[in-house]
Amino acid sequence: MRIFCVNGPNLNLLGKREPEIYGSTTLEDINTICVDEAKALGMEVQCFQSNSEGALVDAIQDKGAWAEAIIINPAAYTHTSVALRDALAAVGKPIIEVHLSNVYAREDFRHHSFIAPIAVGQISGFGSDGYRMAMHAAHRILSA
Ligand code: DQA
Repeated sequence: MRIFCVNGPNLNLLGKREPEIYGSTTLEDINTICVDEAKALGMEVQCFQSNSEGALVDAIQDKGAWAEAIIINPAAYTHTSVALRDALAAVGKPIIEVHLSNVYAREDFRHHSFIAPIAVGQISGFGSDGYRMAMHAAHRILSA
């Protein structure tokens, strides 16, 4: 089972960025969580982060054929990017959307996701545990 784990803009700043909202976990910690969880579940994972919409689209096109499922925290592009949604839809594999914060308890503009309608499901508000949950969700989906 091959999982592509994608993180969007500003998530490279995790640990320093608004810790009262996003916690103290760094992106490196999240990548370690994903690698360890994948190993425990007998899956392979590749992790990728970019601040650039085009680079995210390129990576999804590039790794989409390899991956059997995609876990993505699209960050701010969740609320703005038709390009990211179209790239994910084109891959045709199960998509799991993750947010560290509970986006529905925050500003109105965070309540709409362009990704959610093409995702199997969304995990929001559990901090870095959300990535663990997403790895388990991917395992269940791919085992079904
Ligand atoms: C986020 C929520 C988004 O609204 C925000 O733009 C982010 C992070 C989260 O993980 O909670 O950058 O995706």
